[in-house]
Amino acid sequence: MQCYAPTRPERKSPVVSQSYPATQIVVQPRSLFNQRCLFSDWQKGKSKLGLRDLEGALTARDKVGVQDLVLLDAHKSEGAVLDNLKTRFSVDLIYTYIGTLLISVNPYKELDIYSKKHMDLYMGVNFYELPPHIYALADNAYQTMLTEANNHFILISGESGAGKTETTKKILQYYAVSCPSSALLDTVRDRMLMSNPVLEAFGNAKTLKNDNSSRFGKYMDIQFDSQGDAVGGHILSYLLEKSRVVHQNHGERNFHIFYQLVEGADEDLLRQLGLERDTEYYNYLAQVLCMKTINDKNDWQTVKNALTVIHFDDSDIEVRHLFGIIASVLHLGNIYFDRDFKGFAVLNSSPELRWVSKEAMLWVPWFALLLDAGVLSQVLCPFTVDHAIYARDALAKAIYGRTFTWVVNHINESLENQDPARKTVIGLLDIYGFEVFYVNSFEQFCINYCNEKLQQLFIQLTLKAEQEEYEAEGIEVKHNSLLQL
Ligand SMILES: Nc1ncnc2c1ncn2[C@@H]1O[C@H](COP(=O)(O)OP(=O)(O)OP(=O)(O)O)[C@@H](O)[C@H]1O
Ligand SMILES: [Mg+2]
Repeated sequence: MQCYAPTRPERKSPVVSQSYPATQIVVQPRSLFNQRCLFSDWQKGKSKLGLRDLEGALTARDKVGVQDLVLLDAHKSEGAVLDNLKTRFSVDLIYTYIGTLLISVNPYKELDIYSKKHMDLYMGVNFYELPPHIYALADNAYQTMLTEANNHFILISGESGAGKTETTKKILQYYAVSCPSSALLDTVRDRMLMSNPVLEAFGNAKTLKNDNSSRFGKYMDIQFDSQGDAVGGHILSYLLEKSRVVHQNHGERNFHIFYQLVEGADEDLLRQLGLERDTEYYNYLAQVLCMKTINDKNDWQTVKNALTVIHFDDSDIEVRHLFGIIASVLHLGNIYFDRDFKGFAVLNSSPELRWVSKEAMLWVPWFALLLDAGVLSQVLCPFTVDHAIYARDALAKAIYGRTFTWVVNHINESLENQDPARKTVIGLLDIYGFEVFYVNSFEQFCINYCNEKLQQLFIQLTLKAEQEEYEAEGIEVKHNSLLQL
């Protein structure tokens, strides 16, 4: 996972050009570390600590391993780097720097390092003064943005399940707590925080590696005014894994929203949408058997509340249409085709077809009329059954993809900053992690390529930054081929 910081505060020359991000977080998968974490004395007494004690305890913990890998004696040995991360991880020190990069190892358990006390501790403090933490990085980007009045970016990369999305949320929470507050700004802040559950419902799914895996890339701008108030935001989404709508690998699920709707919606809404309360009934949801580890009913409530906060009014016709379209995708998956005597697909006027026509508003008036009047009972098309299924699935993917874009646009409208004065932004990039399957989907191929490029960028920027610094200090440096990547 990767993030940014503009300059090393204690050094004179800027280490990277302003147009590039500089600090990165690298999240390593936990599989590197099979050991469970030990609880240190500090951990046992943590809840009773005051701010001063907390700082003291953090400093004591510095002595475990090396907190900046640049200072590691055997810094060229991969084993030594991993050993250091492992040693720190064994006492719940999940963060380690490599210069201006931050490495984070997923603890897969709640650590008491994200409290308000911790936020206060890192607020406005020099980047290297306290032990490595995501708050140090978030604060550094914020403070530098304010003093230099320019834009900053936090890039996050890592394997699927490494903790990228969780880190994005931690950064957002940090800004929500640390930035100045007023009634208007609180609304913007709430909407930014609440956009997460909605985007996750529509864009995340259970995979083999992660129960809440992002299946789209997200770049979020947080806009700040000259006082440092968060006044708006904007989200760009990339590469939604649309193939998941119609097919899921063994042990994986479709996007969360389908299960949430079927399991969580009240009877009235289900009836209006023509849905059964049974995920097994729908072809697009019943392809694989998964262990039930997700509470879709509770998540449905969270999403409904979040939709209200980000301006999807419950009484609003938009919400009804939104779920209508999601329902239409499920109905579409249940449309089947018969084969006529010539081998062509025959589309029967099944109830599903009527629901799709109604919910997705795909109907053409005369078509619906003829169907209703019983004049038209079958539609013949020059497709084989396989081709017809392919076309049906393509339509389902297209409908879902456009719905997702519409949701993102709607969120953007609610986050839009109304003040025309110049703003500076902190951008957060959270793409979905790399994974390698026996057969990789086109989207997975693109995202793996994208992650590779990001990793190269991190290496390039880190080495370049160090090289520039050496040069500024008059130290001779060997030309490094990695910089030409
Ligand atoms: N800092 C953390 N503290 C505790 N648990 C964490 C932390 N970071 C991640 N996790 C756990 O790991 C899980 C996976 O994290 P997350 O969804 O952020 O992964 P990801 O890198 O975004 O994966 P993907 O690329 O598949 O989207 C979370 O659901 C959470 O249980
Ligand atoms: Mg994610």
